[in-house]
Amino acid sequence: MRKPIIAGNWKMNKTPSEAKALVEALKPLVADAGCDVVVCVPALDFAAVKEAAEGSNIGVGVQNMHWKESGAYTGELSAAMIKEAGAQYVIIGHSERRQYFAETDETVNKKVLAAVAAGLIPIVCVGEKKEEREAGYTNPLVTYQTQIALTGLTAAQVENVVIAYEPVWAIGTGLTATDEQANETIGVIREAVAAVYGKETAEKVRIQYGGSMKPSNAKGLMEQPEIDGGLIGGASLKAEDFAKVVHFDA
Ligand code: 13P
Repeated sequence: MRKPIIAGNWKMNKTPSEAKALVEALKPLVADAGCDVVVCVPALDFAAVKEAAEGSNIGVGVQNMHWKESGAYTGELSAAMIKEAGAQYVIIGHSERRQYFAETDETVNKKVLAAVAAGLIPIVCVGEKKEEREAGYTNPLVTYQTQIALTGLTAAQVENVVIAYEPVWAIGTGLTATDEQANETIGVIREAVAAVYGKETAEKVRIQYGGSMKPSNAKGLMEQPEIDGGLIGGASLKAEDFAKVVHFDA
């Protein structure tokens, strides 16, 4: 019922010319994809990526935004700028932004509200650190992160939001949550949505897994009933690898 969505998060990788080449290489490899395919790219690469993806089935997005409409916020980008540039998606609250750029659950919520108001689809990241999992805090933590991030949206708006469960300990480490761990925690996130917006809404929300997802483990993860896609870091930087994740069932 939920269409899977596989998104690449390129992070701070690829110059505009490299970005164009990657999308050109990717286009034929994912043209027959059975899921939504998205690349979230550095803002400076966006124009090149948008042009290269034109007429293809590759959706495009960026990796961060500010919640204010405009003003004296040096270095920041508004939702209106991102929307007018042609983006459909924006990653919000990635753990690297929480860790290195002082994002909080409150700023994540402000950004989600501004993104939705501008007609962008936020890919909202939640997930626990290693010590939080070991201390048994995973479920209350992802519940809290999810509910705060969505506060102020209507149920109809929540339906279109994409959530990415990214256990921080699995990002860029080669460690992946087991299929069962990922499925179980994504189930908890879905219950957190249901508790506020109702079961019907929660059943429509697409929830991805992210954290060292790659060709060799994509199928097992994607076979889990709660997992509706992936947010892919390292493996999204090579067209062949990303295409293999997109074709997880091939
Ligand atoms: P890796 O796939 O490199 O672990 O990164 C995951 C991630 O952070 C996607 O947003």
